[in-house]
Amino acid sequence: MKSAKVAVKNFGNKLAPLVIASPYQQFTSHPALRGRDITTVEALSAEEIKLILACAKVLKLKPKDPAQKQIAEGKTLAMLFEKPSLRTRITFEVGMNQLGGSALFVEGKLGIREAICDVAGNLDRWVDVIMARTFSHQTVLELCKYAKVPVINGLSDLEHPCQTLADLLTIEEHKGSLKGLNIAYVGDANNVANSLMIGALKMGANFTLACPAAFAPNDDMVAAAAKAASESGAKLKIVHDPVVAVQHADVVYTDTWVSMGQEDEAEIRKQAFAPFQVNSTIVSYAKPDAIVMHCLPAHRGAEITDEQLDGPQSVVLDQAENRLHAQKGLLTLIL
Ligand code: CP
Repeated sequence: MKSAKVAVKNFGNKLAPLVIASPYQQFTSHPALRGRDITTVEALSAEEIKLILACAKVLKLKPKDPAQKQIAEGKTLAMLFEKPSLRTRITFEVGMNQLGGSALFVEGKLGIREAICDVAGNLDRWVDVIMARTFSHQTVLELCKYAKVPVINGLSDLEHPCQTLADLLTIEEHKGSLKGLNIAYVGDANNVANSLMIGALKMGANFTLACPAAFAPNDDMVAAAAKAASESGAKLKIVHDPVVAVQHADVVYTDTWVSMGQEDEAEIRKQAFAPFQVNSTIVSYAKPDAIVMHCLPAHRGAEITDEQLDGPQSVVLDQAENRLHAQKGLLTLIL
């Protein structure tokens, strides 16, 4: 990565070099996340999250700036997908292209044709970074263990850190600051909820999760969230009444009730989660200027109505766009 452009200025009677600092240099030379695996939001500090968001915001100002092409010039990302994707696949590939690198797509369950340690050991010899979407979080950890290059979790059964980085960026853009905001997550306490809960609390936003009592969040994730809340001074609440959760909310967030791999439970989940639909009645209890969020893909008429998904309070397409910018920020800091 070339760090700065050099121009020549007429300096009195002499020609003196003038160094024009690249707006990206402060991030391309920042050591904090260089070479790091990004497996969970839990493993990122509040300062590291702020750094990624700051980098994403600078990159977003001119996403097709030719100077960005130097950031990952000659570098390759391997994208491993055990599950389908639209946003994660496209935004990582476009992001690598905009940073001057390239991305390769590999589909299929890991550990079947050959051991995960061998996949990691081979990829390590060819590529500069790995992104993996897996059923089990253990698979991400195994890739991290055996790959010398950084590994990014592109969604596992435990967390979806890239989604949360994009979501925090989106909330900051719409609300100015995360500190002191009230974020209500209504629905299934899944990987997206886990990451958002911990990330929001680390950044000082209050977080209330409303879910059916029979679908309580993962104990380890709640413990990590409680630790984040005690460190930032934000408040964490887990409730079973969606109206209680959205009262005074600045953000109303939901996601699918049936995550990939839970198809066998679809009917029982649809019944249990029906009272947790994000619709006009639920949103009417939030602040009048609350934003409505969903990481997509959405199941229209299930966890969210068309009216809310397409309505004036919805920022779902800003979230989708910000996957690109947030992940470019992440790649800039780890490559
Ligand atoms: N939100 C999200 O991760 O979208 P994809 O499943 O399409 O990648």
